[in-house]
Amino acid sequence: MSALHPRRKDKIIRGIILYSKKENNLSDKDYSIKRLLEVARSKNIEIKIVLPDQFELIVTKLGKKSILIDDALEPIPDFVLPRLGSNTTYFAFSILRQLEYLGVYVCNNAESIFSVQDKLYMHQLLSRSKLSSPNTMLAKYPLSIEVVRREIGFPLVIKNVTGTEGAGIYLCDSETKFVDVMELIYANNPKANIILQEFIKNSYGKDLRVFVIGGKVAGCMERKSSTSFKANVSKGASVFAHELTPEIEWLSTETAKLFNLDIAGVDLLFDENELKICEANSSPDFTGLEKVVGKTIAESIIDYILIKIGCNSEVE
Ligand SMILES: Nc1ncnc2c1ncn2[C@@H]1O[C@H](COP(=O)(O)OP(=O)(O)O)[C@@H](O)[C@H]1O
Ligand SMILES: [Mg+2]
Repeated sequence: MSALHPRRKDKIIRGIILYSKKENNLSDKDYSIKRLLEVARSKNIEIKIVLPDQFELIVTKLGKKSILIDDALEPIPDFVLPRLGSNTTYFAFSILRQLEYLGVYVCNNAESIFSVQDKLYMHQLLSRSKLSSPNTMLAKYPLSIEVVRREIGFPLVIKNVTGTEGAGIYLCDSETKFVDVMELIYANNPKANIILQEFIKNSYGKDLRVFVIGGKVAGCMERKSSTSFKANVSKGASVFAHELTPEIEWLSTETAKLFNLDIAGVDLLFDENELKICEANSSPDFTGLEKVVGKTIAESIIDYILIKIGCNSEVE
């Protein structure tokens, strides 16, 4: 991390949030983005939302002092905050890599976003690091039901390898339903990439969301759903304060470190005797968390970015 420098009065700090909606199209669902804009502006940061397709990506012709947005030259920003998560496209990744090459602090960087975009790859990296997560296998067609029964067992969770907010995740309680659902999936898309995962039954409808910023836990909460096994807030789960135990702290900070995520939303499942890592998110929403821990998360993110780019949050 860079040393702290008091920010000079005349130093303009420029930031970009890479997002899927323009500022005038934001709604209540974009609470986290609105908060980041509000906090950054309260600290005199010139910040704006840019959509990936507003950038021109010209590798050889651009000088090192500017970038092209909406076909106009703009100064290189001090930082970029990508908020596209698992929807980061090839084009968006290319822009992030280009900005990193130009020396912009990208929080999180392209490689770390990539490492958690694919849920199978994420579990491969977790298991290689001996971090506890549910047994997971890549489905193939035709199905070998014996192998699935032996390696994963029933009930099991079927997941799209990429996905977020609980979409594309299905709890399957019997072999007959499993065969039907998989046939339906492959009939629609023979190239579908699907993972099959051990169901952590003790965690039905509840889990923990831990928000890690710069290697430290910024907030922890329990999510509970009364309608589904999925505890996503976007699927209607309620949020509650939860004590930060050493186990939660260790698992979540190790996970963020493993994927090199400066900002991480780590989901933990309650198994009988331990917690298991469900996933890490690279642009976690904090609408629910700020209800539980107070309006501190956006501020912690912006302050962390200011430290990383070598300015503290105080304006002289
Ligand atoms: N293996 C599992 N066992 C029990 N519950 C699970 C399991 N996997 C996911 N869930 C539940 O489903 C939710 C969504 O799954 P997750 O893998 O985090 O996908 P998403 O990226 O859509 O949030 C989790 O927050 C958790 O409540
Ligand atoms: Mg999740």
